[in-house]
Amino acid sequence: MAVNGISLAYERSGTGAPLLLVHGFPLDHRSWQPLVAYLQARFDVILPDLRGFGQSDAPPGCYDMEGLASDLAALLDGLGIQKTFIAGHSMGGYVSLAFARSVPARVLGLGMISSQAIADLPERKTGRYATAGQVAIHGMSAVAEMAEKLTANADQQPFFRELILSQSPQGVMGALMAMAERPDSSALLPSFQFPVVLVHGLADNLILPQRSREMKALLPQAELFELSGVGHSPAVEAPDETARCLQKLLRE
Ligand code: MLT
Repeated sequence: MAVNGISLAYERSGTGAPLLLVHGFPLDHRSWQPLVAYLQARFDVILPDLRGFGQSDAPPGCYDMEGLASDLAALLDGLGIQKTFIAGHSMGGYVSLAFARSVPARVLGLGMISSQAIADLPERKTGRYATAGQVAIHGMSAVAEMAEKLTANADQQPFFRELILSQSPQGVMGALMAMAERPDSSALLPSFQFPVVLVHGLADNLILPQRSREMKALLPQAELFELSGVGHSPAVEAPDETARCLQKLLRE
């Protein structure tokens, strides 16, 4: 779909309340595939490829979380959807927070999976720019080893490696800069008037489970689910459990 001057790819499946699933870095909507089967009886699942990823256009330059969220709002406009549940994985959580910041009235509920509200510490920020430089020189092979950190299950690493290697270096550089420059959203959390579900794998070494506990402390209404034996990608590592967590957003 044409949004904000680019083509944004998406898939859609299921029936029920709209649920926008926002993928993490450096992945695309295919990283949700194992989970979708467990959600489509209850939700109209919308699976975009963020600007810069998958089949969406990857314009050059620095992206920002507000722009990525604005693409999603425009996609919903195009689909005729006013309000939606939104759940983000890791970087997708940062985009989801930006969406909740800019259009809170459109949010029916928020899921944050393996994500965090805080901004990058200075050394992490510097590392993002260094990684962007490596991607500019070497392409996606510069970040392919990240597959090892995306799952606690070694058998799933080839799946992630293939997803990573299929991404656009230009899009990945734009997103690295968006992550480096994202604001701290902690002060935003207490303003949320909708249900929130936090899901975190206890074996996540990329974003520590403590980050979800910190969000929970700022969100009295949130339900926090910590999944044992699960690493950074609950939707792939434990899709049935992750779906059960997200269904709590429906408060039935
Ligand atoms: C992700 O999984 O989306 C990223 O690793 C998040 C990050 O680097 O902050």
